[in-house]
Amino acid sequence: MDHRRFAEPLTLRGLEISNRLWMSPMCQYSAGGDGVPTNWHLVHYCSRAVGGAGMIMVESTAVGPKHRTTNHDLGLWDAAQVDGHKALAAQIKSFGSVAAVQLNSAGRKSSHMVPGVQGGQNTAVSVDDGGWVPLAPSARPFGNLAVPAEMTAADIDDVVDAFAAAAGNARDAGYDVVEVHAAHGYLLHQFLSPVSNGRKDEHGGTLENRMRLPLRVCQAVREAFPQDKPVFVRLTATDWVEGGITLEESTVFAQRLAGLGIDLLDVTSGALAVDAPPPNEPALNLEFAEVLKEAAGIAVAPVGQLSDPELLGNIFASSTVDAVIVGRALLRDPYFALRLATGQPKDRWPLQYHRAL
Ligand SMILES: Cc1cc2nc3c(=O)[nH]c(=O)nc-3n(C[C@H](O)[C@H](O)[C@H](O)COP(=O)(O)O)c2cc1C
Repeated sequence: MDHRRFAEPLTLRGLEISNRLWMSPMCQYSAGGDGVPTNWHLVHYCSRAVGGAGMIMVESTAVGPKHRTTNHDLGLWDAAQVDGHKALAAQIKSFGSVAAVQLNSAGRKSSHMVPGVQGGQNTAVSVDDGGWVPLAPSARPFGNLAVPAEMTAADIDDVVDAFAAAAGNARDAGYDVVEVHAAHGYLLHQFLSPVSNGRKDEHGGTLENRMRLPLRVCQAVREAFPQDKPVFVRLTATDWVEGGITLEESTVFAQRLAGLGIDLLDVTSGALAVDAPPPNEPALNLEFAEVLKEAAGIAVAPVGQLSDPELLGNIFASSTVDAVIVGRALLRDPYFALRLATGQPKDRWPLQYHRAL
């Protein structure tokens, strides 16, 4: 097992990231209705920073109240939220990790229950119960969620402005990286995919039209975030469904993102359609990431079932990907990254823990 590349720093623009294993954004649904980070977020993210993840990507954070998935999502649209994120980002950085945040609009996947409560993500919250009517490219619902309203041209412009404002707020909060969420069936992915986008105007039909809003958003975020700090995009390599996005289309999207100055592609797949689960396989997005890197010529990091130490050793030894992004393994074990470094000098572990090693 060769984990040496794990500990090689990576520089993107003016930012040095201390290693190549990063925490994936994972919504905690633990904010109050105000969208401000809570003590849960502070302890949860800082545990993984102490645990040696080179980057902590704070979960899907909404760019406006109606862009949330639930009433308990984080937000970055007002001053109180910026203050809360300031404290969170500063603490993450104090433990040696890069502080990053994922910006999102949920589109047709908004206004549902918190996972684990009643029917969770499959149960809509009605307007009478504090929910809202979701906005989406077309009036095509996701599973049992509410039928969304088709967005107007003004709604589309508002989305661009909301992402740009949230990127400026992320800058003010002190984040080193922002990531635009254009995957997992959320709004920007809904525009990209013909499965969810049936529009007849300049935002529907051809790939060029379907990419129009996602590219505008990425360009606006790139312009709003400091030039010496990187911007990532989480994109889908494939929808795993007939008539959906294929690797061929995501390759074109990746190349266009590179042209906008996007620094890294966070490569995932699936979650656009209820009846199209991705294959249950280790490293399912690794080869997609390698293809997209070759085609777009920028840094890439795959996510998805990258939790076996031996598999990770092989990736660090021989893959062209620049980093790996880990989700659930880091929920199970905050020290996953430190354990992976077993065999390296114990000084990777915090001094306070040396007597246990
Ligand atoms: C509890 C939970 C919350 C998640 N929330 C988000 C999110 O906020 N944004 C996102 O892009 N993906 C989210 N995901 C997906 C993960 O980031 C990741 O892509 C997925 O779990 C696959 O990686 P893994 O096999 O390492 O867990 C979530 C996953 C879980 C388990």
